[in-house]
Formats: sequence, C-alpha cells, structure tokens
Amino acid sequence: MYNLLKGKRGIIFGALNENSIAWKVAEQAYAEGATFTLTNVPVSIRFGDIDKLAEQCNTIVIPADATSVADLENLITKSMEYLGGKVDFILHSIGMSLNVRKKLPYDDLNYEYLKKTLDISAISFHKVMQTAVKLDAVNEWGSIVALSYIAAQRTLYGYNDMADAKAILESIARSFGYILGRDKNIRVNTVSQSPTPTTAGSGVKGFDHLMDFTEKMSPLGNATADECASYCISLFSDLTKKVTMQNLFHDGGFSNMGMSAAAMETYTKSLEEEIKQKK
Ligand SMILES: NC(=O)c1ccc[n+]([C@@H]2O[C@H](COP(=O)([O-])OP(=O)(O)OC[C@H]3O[C@@H](n4cnc5c(N)ncnc54)[C@H](O)[C@@H]3O)[C@@H](O)[C@H]2O)c1
Repeated sequence: MYNLLKGKRGIIFGALNENSIAWKVAEQAYAEGATFTLTNVPVSIRFGDIDKLAEQCNTIVIPADATSVADLENLITKSMEYLGGKVDFILHSIGMSLNVRKKLPYDDLNYEYLKKTLDISAISFHKVMQTAVKLDAVNEWGSIVALSYIAAQRTLYGYNDMADAKAILESIARSFGYILGRDKNIRVNTVSQSPTPTTAGSGVKGFDHLMDFTEKMSPLGNATADECASYCISLFSDLTKKVTMQNLFHDGGFSNMGMSAAAMETYTKSLEEEIKQKK
C-alpha cells in the first residue's frame, strides 16, 4: 500500500456484502490510511454484512436511504462529527431496479418502478452532492465518484431501465462536476465498470453469459471488484486532481472493441451448430 489516502476522510455508500464493489473500496481506503463512515439503506444493513466491514475498518455505519434528503442530511452531519471535519471523498455505489428484479421487460415497464429506479440509481447522486454542498461538507480538492455501466451509451440486452438510470447518472456527474469544479475545486467522475458478480450485477438477465462474452471481448479481461476499487482509490487520491466530469471506462478495453478472436471463435462454433441442426 502507498498511503495514498493518508489523512483523508470520506463517506462510502453501498457496501452490502463482501462481493460489493463498495466493500472492496472500503477495505482499500482503510489500507491506504483514510478514515470514513459507511452507509446503506436500513434493510440492506439488516440483511447484509456491513457491520462486519465497519469492525474491520474501525468505523461506524450510519443508515440512510439515499433517496431521502433528510436521511442524507443526518448522515453527512453525523459523518463530519464522527470524522472530525469535512470529507475529502464520497463513493456513490448504489443501484436498484424493481423492473429488473421482477423481470419486467423494457417494453412492459411498470412506471412506478421506473421512478424508483431513477430515484435510487441516479437522482440520489444529485441529492448526495446537493446536500453535501449545502452543508459545506466537502473539502477543496475533494473527489466524488459514482459507479456506472456501458449500457448508458450502448444497448445491452437485459439491462433494462438501469440503462436510462446510468445515462442520467453520468449526466449528473458532468453537470455537477462543472459547478463543483468551478466553485470549490471538487472533482466529480463516474467509473464505468465491467460486469461484476455482485448482488446487483447478478440480477441482470443472462448475467453469467454476459460476463463470459465481455471476458472474451476485452483484451485485458473483465475488471474485478478489487481492481475497480483500486481505480476508485486513485481517483480519491491527489494523483488525479485535474480529472473531472469524466465517465471513465474500467472494463479491460471492452468499450472500444467490436469483435475479438475469442468471441468470434465461440460465435462460429454456435453458428455452425445452428446450421447443422437446420439441415
Ligand atoms: N455488478 C456489476 O456488474 C456492475 C457493473 C457496473 C456498475 N455497477 C454499479 O456498481 C454499483 C454497486 O453495485 P454492486 O455491483 O457492488 O452491487 P451491490 O448489490 O453489492 O450494491 C448495490 C448497493 O446499492 C444499495 N442501495 C439500494 N437502494 C439504496 C438506497 N435507496 N439507498 C442507499 N443504498 C441503496 C444496496 O443496499 C447495495 O448495497 C451500482 O451503481 C451498480 O449499478 C455494477
């Protein structure tokens, strides 16, 4: 470890269990010398393992539903009290779609669920930043990161209304990134991560096959949750002070591929099989 976050304070949203990307970020932030609070929605605190992580990182868990401004005010105020000052980094690692959970296809969405998807997975990012700024809770040269997915730019079968949420999330990062950069030298970015076997990830239709496809398509292979955490740590560190308003692909190269030899091999085999069956 490099002491990259020595003396820095933060708030980490979204650690549910040890597979969560936020869990890995917390472990690495702790190892890099940061102090931070952990937060999640009460039901996830009850059913997940976040208390174990808090013990491991010598910190506390402050419950907050990220769609509730009152909860966020309480979280941010208590975090500053506990940490002894303003924060230097915030990780937004939150996603949930009831349409995905209930397997409703994109052309038969439940619109109440859609509103929830957008509120939880995208607008909560705006709420976190607006609340933090109103409470003057972020230090100059602070860094705010949210996690995104390439379905914001390209259509990927099965990602459903989460694609729309991610497009809004990335837009919020740009819009708020301008204001926070201009006024406070705070940077805001999204990290667009490979498919990763977590609770949220595994809920996507055909997830295992998707992971195999992206593995075959990516010259460096899929990025793991741990590797994603390392990238987030670099974005929280002072080594990336002038990176802002970006959607940063952390996907082994997938986003710039059209077809790879490995994917072509698998496609050719299944195509030949299909032709044989038709004869
Ligand atoms: N797993 C993947 O394949 C993948 C790929 C790219 C991006 N991402 C993104 O990474 C982020 C983290 O997801 P993950 O894969 O670690 O899965 P995860 O299931 O471990 O984390 C999702 C978290 O969101 C939290 N959450 C849900 N509703 C909330 C609310 N109202 N308020 C506060 N928190 C709430 C959950 O409790 C959970 O901790 C999400 O934004 C996800 O979309 C995941």
